[in-house]
Amino acid sequence: MLLNLFRINKNNMKLESLLLENEINVKQLFNNENKELYKENIKNTIDYILDFLNNDKFYSGVSVTELKDKFSLINKNEDLSVIKMDEALEQLKEVFLDHAISFNNPTYVAHLNCPVTIPSLVGDLIASAVNTAVETWDQSTSATLIEQYIIDWITEHMKLPTTSDGVFTSGGTQSNFMGLLLARDHYAFKYFGINIKEKGWDPIISKFRFFCSEKAHFSIKKNAALLGMGYNSVIPVATNESFEMDSKALVLAIEKEKQKGNIPIGVIATIGTTDFGSFDPVLSISKIAKMDNMWLHVDGAYGGCFVLSELHKPLFNGVQYADSITIDFHKSLFQPVSSSAFLVSDKLNFRYVSHYADYLNPIETKDSEHVNLITKSIQTTRRFDALKLWFTLKVTGEKTLGSYLKIVHKLAVDTYALLNEDSNFETIHSPTLSTVVFRYKAKGIVEDSIHDMLNIYIKNSLFKEGKASVASTKHNNITYLKFTLLNPNVTLKDMKNIVNMIKEKAANYNKNN
Ligand SMILES: Cc1ncc(COP(=O)(O)O)c(C=O)c1O
Repeated sequence: MLLNLFRINKNNMKLESLLLENEINVKQLFNNENKELYKENIKNTIDYILDFLNNDKFYSGVSVTELKDKFSLINKNEDLSVIKMDEALEQLKEVFLDHAISFNNPTYVAHLNCPVTIPSLVGDLIASAVNTAVETWDQSTSATLIEQYIIDWITEHMKLPTTSDGVFTSGGTQSNFMGLLLARDHYAFKYFGINIKEKGWDPIISKFRFFCSEKAHFSIKKNAALLGMGYNSVIPVATNESFEMDSKALVLAIEKEKQKGNIPIGVIATIGTTDFGSFDPVLSISKIAKMDNMWLHVDGAYGGCFVLSELHKPLFNGVQYADSITIDFHKSLFQPVSSSAFLVSDKLNFRYVSHYADYLNPIETKDSEHVNLITKSIQTTRRFDALKLWFTLKVTGEKTLGSYLKIVHKLAVDTYALLNEDSNFETIHSPTLSTVVFRYKAKGIVEDSIHDMLNIYIKNSLFKEGKASVASTKHNNITYLKFTLLNPNVTLKDMKNIVNMIKEKAANYNKNN
């Protein structure tokens, strides 16, 4: 049929009438002809989005079965007929928008999700419509410059040397993957003359060891496994009472591995652990890493953006010595998912991921003024994610972003004090960033296992009823609840309301069990 279309088209028939003849809707593509339709669709859609903001709960509380039923009602597999956009929007409202989790709602205090800035939404709208792919200059032109501008801005904040560079990634997991990959390939090449990119695996690699705190993000182990090195190549290092890596324990762990005949190649320091927001002592870790020529990767997925908060700046001492850094703007800089970057102190190290393809970025163009961002990325086609942050910096400004972070930190500190004043609660850390880990402790009960069940009951029943979304985690095998505070509009009064709901749920549980 396509061949047919082509032949008739060659015979000077207009493509449009051809498509119409074949009952193909010509109004679906974003182009000059369909501008008005695009405008109308976007305008109508905005009303639906604003309606989502009117949802008074963070979640409708609808059950999984109810949602599945609603979904299968409008999505019968046998029905391939198309509907009008208005109708599709109505359906989406019914199955998604009315039940989507709202990170803007003051009762959403669970995970590392933030409300987003309006300029970032404008940026995302443009990025999707223009559909720039930031891989080669001939696909992205000045989008390349905008991404590079953001990278230069953040490397400067991290005080990296002038040899530094970076690239946008899909998130902290991918950035951490790149950190481990560069660390391994660099060490293998520099100290053993092994070119992993060209030659692949070498038996010596099974002796390579990474070190990170026992509170580091799971993506470190997962990425080591994906790199073929296995979970066992990652050595967890004990933390102190503030959940920061213990430098002395790191030295001992390195020595122990060396005695076993293993080769320490890299340390991952976390600035902002997922649960506690704790900062590993990067300066002393950097000195320890240097003694053994180890790569220092800093995971700042959560804490990295707090460099904009004056209060937190001193915690970044030593980050300037990192070989690579992960930073997520979609966690703590009020950007829509995805918005994340991977930074390196020496841009030459991107050679471990670069590849030159004849059809895309031929080797002859390597040093051309037309920069191809693909040479720094493990992705090929890549969204223009830097645009939303560029808009945010232009319109919101880094000073305001820094104040938002100070506000959420203060809220965490005040909430921690609130919990400490109440004998029903036990807290286990004072907040460095914006999380509070705690548990409800029923009077007269000593068994941790009962408290575990009670706290999980509190979390699940608040979620099911759409009353509040609180996270849970474990420390020393004991279950705790967690508030992650990233919404500067949430007040202490809102937190008191959630704390009271937790107490009500606990009272119910005690009555029924
Ligand atoms: C410290 C830390 N590193 C890495 C990640 C992974 O980031 P992403 O979810 O963007 O892949 C997280 C996610 O919570 C994190 O907290």
